[in-house]
Amino acid sequence: MSREMPRRAAWVVAAAAAVVGALLSLASPEAGLAVLGLGLAALTVAAFLSFQVLIQHVVGLQGGQRPGAGPGQQRVIAAVRQGEKSLGQRITALGKQLDAQPYLNAELVRRYGDLVPTDQPMPTLGANWAATAPTILFIIDRVLGDPERETILECGSGASTVWAAAAFRKRGHGHVYSIDHDPEFAEVTRRNLRTHGLQDWATVIDAPLTQVDVPGRDPMPWYDVAGLPADLPGVDLLFVDGPPRPTGPQARYPAFPVLRHLLAPGALVVLDDTNRRDERDIAKSWQREPGMSFHQQVGRSTALRYTP
Ligand SMILES: C[S@@+](CC[C@H](N)C(=O)[O-])C[C@H]1O[C@@H](n2cnc3c(N)ncnc32)[C@H](O)[C@@H]1O
Repeated sequence: MSREMPRRAAWVVAAAAAVVGALLSLASPEAGLAVLGLGLAALTVAAFLSFQVLIQHVVGLQGGQRPGAGPGQQRVIAAVRQGEKSLGQRITALGKQLDAQPYLNAELVRRYGDLVPTDQPMPTLGANWAATAPTILFIIDRVLGDPERETILECGSGASTVWAAAAFRKRGHGHVYSIDHDPEFAEVTRRNLRTHGLQDWATVIDAPLTQVDVPGRDPMPWYDVAGLPADLPGVDLLFVDGPPRPTGPQARYPAFPVLRHLLAPGALVVLDDTNRRDERDIAKSWQREPGMSFHQQVGRSTALRYTP
């Protein structure tokens, strides 16, 4: 069957859902969000089908292999097939995320009521470079669900620092240590902690970027961790959400090799943004290290376990 009809229909549904969702959200944000979700799904399908049509035009195919095609063309066909496959996988993953979204929203509302007693807003999740809700919920649950987890060390402060500190306060013990290369941003996080009365549950440490020695690699820019307390307890969860990408390629790679000696046995190492190729490659490299194993994919983050 031609893909033209479904493609057009998907674009129409996406456009209609965008308009209806936007208007509806004025009256009912929840209903508007649901319609916008439908629009997003339709947009994804439309983009996928349009991508196929585009590729067919470029390569001059009507689908499938062309018997008379030369080796060059066959290579292009194979590349297109591979592209289709990985796009299909991404769409499947996106669908799963959409399925999980209502549950995550409900959980976040529950945690909000549980952990934030004031009417002050918490730093927004998923915006302004902050980690997204699934990752934050994962960290909160690791704290609330395991009284043995005492210490979180974090590369890159922000919303995650405040939420993790709130989880420790709720539980009554434990501490977050967060290193940040940007003094201004570190101060913003300290201010957010004070706003929520959480200054005793998290410490933000200035850690300017410097050339560091990285086992097995050339020296590269990373945090100067001289400001970490000398008596830091064994780290139960290392959350790696910095330095930011503009620092350079594989900017977050040093976190595990440089901080490994601080990790408690069985520690979780959570690397954010593994939806990006650079961070995916870092996670793969870390998994090849002795004692490291895959634990769980959490939204955009990959959680590994370190059992030396
Ligand atoms: C990915 S962010 C860390 C986010 C943090 N873990 C959170 O969940 O909110 C990494 C670094 O980027 C810097 N940063 C964070 N938000 C920023 C913003 N809105 N603009 C510029 N830099 C920002 C901070 O220095 C931070 O340490």
